[in-house]
Amino acid sequence: MRQSHFCQMGLLKILPLVICLAFLSVSTACSNGSCRLLDECSSDGDCESGLYCFSCPLGFLGSRCVRSTITNQFKLVNNSLPFNKYAYLTTHNSYAIEGEPSHTGVPRVTFNNQEDSVTQQLNNGVRALMLDTYDFDDDVWLCHSNGGKCHDFTAFEPAIDTMKEIEAFLSANPSEIVTVILEDYVKAPNGLTKVFNDSGLLKYWFPVSRMPQNGQDWPLVSDMVASNQRLIVFTSVKSKQELEGIAYQWNFMVENQYGDDGMKAGSCFNRAESSPLNETSKSLVLVNYFRSIPVKLTACVQNSADLIGMLNTCYHAAANRWANFVAVDYYKRSEGGGAFQATDMLNGRLLCGCDDVHTCVQPGSTSGACTPP
Ligand SMILES: *[C@@H]1O[C@H](CO)[C@@H](O)[C@H](O)[C@H]1NC(C)=O
Ligand SMILES: *[C@@H]1O[C@H](CO)[C@@H](O)[C@H](O)[C@H]1NC(C)=O
Ligand SMILES: *[C@@H]1O[C@H](CO)[C@@H](O)[C@H](O)[C@H]1NC(C)=O
Ligand SMILES: *[C@@H]1O[C@H](CO)[C@@H](O)[C@H](O)[C@H]1NC(C)=O
Repeated sequence: MRQSHFCQMGLLKILPLVICLAFLSVSTACSNGSCRLLDECSSDGDCESGLYCFSCPLGFLGSRCVRSTITNQFKLVNNSLPFNKYAYLTTHNSYAIEGEPSHTGVPRVTFNNQEDSVTQQLNNGVRALMLDTYDFDDDVWLCHSNGGKCHDFTAFEPAIDTMKEIEAFLSANPSEIVTVILEDYVKAPNGLTKVFNDSGLLKYWFPVSRMPQNGQDWPLVSDMVASNQRLIVFTSVKSKQELEGIAYQWNFMVENQYGDDGMKAGSCFNRAESSPLNETSKSLVLVNYFRSIPVKLTACVQNSADLIGMLNTCYHAAANRWANFVAVDYYKRSEGGGAFQATDMLNGRLLCGCDDVHTCVQPGSTSGACTPP
């Protein structure tokens, strides 16, 4: 681990580079599941569990083990606090998955934001999904588009397929909560309600009537689990809260600008639809951190120190509130800890004022101080 840091620091200087390359060529000491964070690897199987073998040419030399899974804050600490006292890893355009076959018979011509299936995302600890819903082909589809109209060449899949994946996850993981954030272009009356019903998700529905209206805390996670109200859905269409009982996102959440304008270091401001970030009558805070057009090569750098920097900037902008949701593209790409480490940081800050949720836990101590990382 120390060698790799040395190499990263020395990257721009020729002599250390030569020395560290020589060093690395003889330092393949680990294999078969024994390689630790940032150790060199040649396949995923070399890495310890929770890591995979990845290369980030803009961040480090060669292929190294980086994180692929979240720390479960409910298991590591507890789930007895309000829902808004925890942070959740969020995938932007969770459905826009590389390699998803065309379901329309027409090859897709649009960009991708993720590489794993929604089931894999959930299994790796993603707990909030951003989905774009459209009327299409007499049904509701997940689609990338503009002007609110889905096309054969921008459609990914019928929404019900993804909803069924979420249903299967909630059914297999009775202590977990999933949040779905919809960029919603569905105009068909009860179009979304029908999809949630048909997919079996309505039985997990967290009702709008239980959401805090004026900046109060949310119900306890343990209560939400006990009542089996483990699916939170937000829509971007205000009228649906009244008409269909689907919460209007910005009644309950503030959110920063998305895309390139939201990635300028040191600046964090609300997107147009959201109240200012310091509006504390909304109990939840969402931080977007992804490019307007996703770029795979740079995602590993952006999802690392830059992301942590923005979370700190947004903390101040949001009246000293840490983000509950951190939304990224290519969520597994990083220089080591990436969006997983960022979520651990947020949970550490939210739960115990520490820089990493792992340091919240102090066996045999009640002093409240952080353990050394
Ligand atoms: C790899 O590790 C597994 C489990 O630790 C062990 O059963 C297996 O024999 C190892 N394989 C090799 C090639 O060392
Ligand atoms: C859900 O579906 C069931 C059976 O398919 C139907 O009886 C029920 O009315 C539906 N509920 C809603 C809210 O659409
Ligand atoms: C909230 O932030 C805005 C900028 O978005 C600022 O003008 C305003 O003074 C802040 N309000 C408080 C109470 O800090
Ligand atoms: C749960 O964890 C929080 C944060 O560390 C702590 O304040 C609280 O007392 C814990 N609750 C229980 C029931 O252990």
